Amino acid sequence: MTASISTSLLAWYDRNARDLPWRLPPGAALPVDPSWPYRVWLSEVMLQQTTVAAVKPYFAKFVDVWPTVEALAAAPDDDVMAAWAGLGYYSRARNLLKCARAVAERGGFPSTEAELRALPGLGDYTAAAVAAIAFGRRAVVVDANVERVAARLFAIDAPLPKARKAIRAAADSITPGTRAGDFAQAMMDLGSHICTSRTPRCLLCPLADPCKARALGEPERLPVKPPKKAVPERRGTAFWITRGGAAEVWLVTRPGTGMLGGMRALPDDGWSAQADGSGAPPFAGAWRSLGAVRHGFTHASLTLEVRALETASTPPGDGQWWPVAQIGAAGLATLFAKAAGLALAEG
Ligand code: ADE
Repeated sequence: MTASISTSLLAWYDRNARDLPWRLPPGAALPVDPSWPYRVWLSEVMLQQTTVAAVKPYFAKFVDVWPTVEALAAAPDDDVMAAWAGLGYYSRARNLLKCARAVAERGGFPSTEAELRALPGLGDYTAAAVAAIAFGRRAVVVDANVERVAARLFAIDAPLPKARKAIRAAADSITPGTRAGDFAQAMMDLGSHICTSRTPRCLLCPLADPCKARALGEPERLPVKPPKKAVPERRGTAFWITRGGAAEVWLVTRPGTGMLGGMRALPDDGWSAQADGSGAPPFAGAWRSLGAVRHGFTHASLTLEVRALETASTPPGDGQWWPVAQIGAAGLATLFAKAAGLALAEG
């Protein structure tokens, strides 16, 4: 008799699991320590749309500074947003804080998928991943890697996103009742290392035998992706305002929930609220253009011109003077870190 898909996959995972800082060894008992679900939740939020390599140093910093969900819940917003700087998708950091505060308030993480899903900012994926990995609950955990593995195993050739329902049902049909966390992470590891998008390594795959896409040929064709939309080009201007012979620079905190909301930043011309910025500086003066930086967001490509002015007066509106020598500690999002880099090189 051939082994079931989950048995083959778990046996492969026992030999090949990646050693990651938020992970237990395969088959290990779940810790009773309340910081365990915290670590799982934090890592899963960080890993959304972000690579393991990029997440590792951020995960290490967060658990060092805020080792428990209570510590994170008590942290000032600015500190958390600054610590997230560079990881991208900043709404995750705002939601992370909201969720940490709700969890601290209720006295810890709930353990069922439904209760986890009800926490602020926790979507279907994170609720299922935390239920399975932190609490060992059977849950169908579907991220892009799992989606690819399931679409190929069952040769689901409807295009995404239409195929999602069938993919979820397929993933459900192979999810075992035990070792829920190991199974979810085994699917992720298989998807990221063996069942890769372009050139799947079928010769090394523990699921090569039952894989329908492999039997049909061209497994790399699945899942069928919708055509890529062209990303619009946008333009804006950021202002590098200094005083004291460029000893300090004027920084603002971006408003609540918009683009890069809650992040410290250079003042700009409102490009994120309009299709293109007006280029208008916040006050009149002998502004110098320093050139421009480019940055890719998922929904747009931005060219951000950087204009500079040395001044003796404080600019209008809320903001703070920040020592230029410590700009690296300001927690600027990558876009504004690039603009600051240009100002430092050209200024
Ligand atoms: N991507 C998302 N969650 C993950 C995990 N727990 N291990 C590896 N990659 C992941």
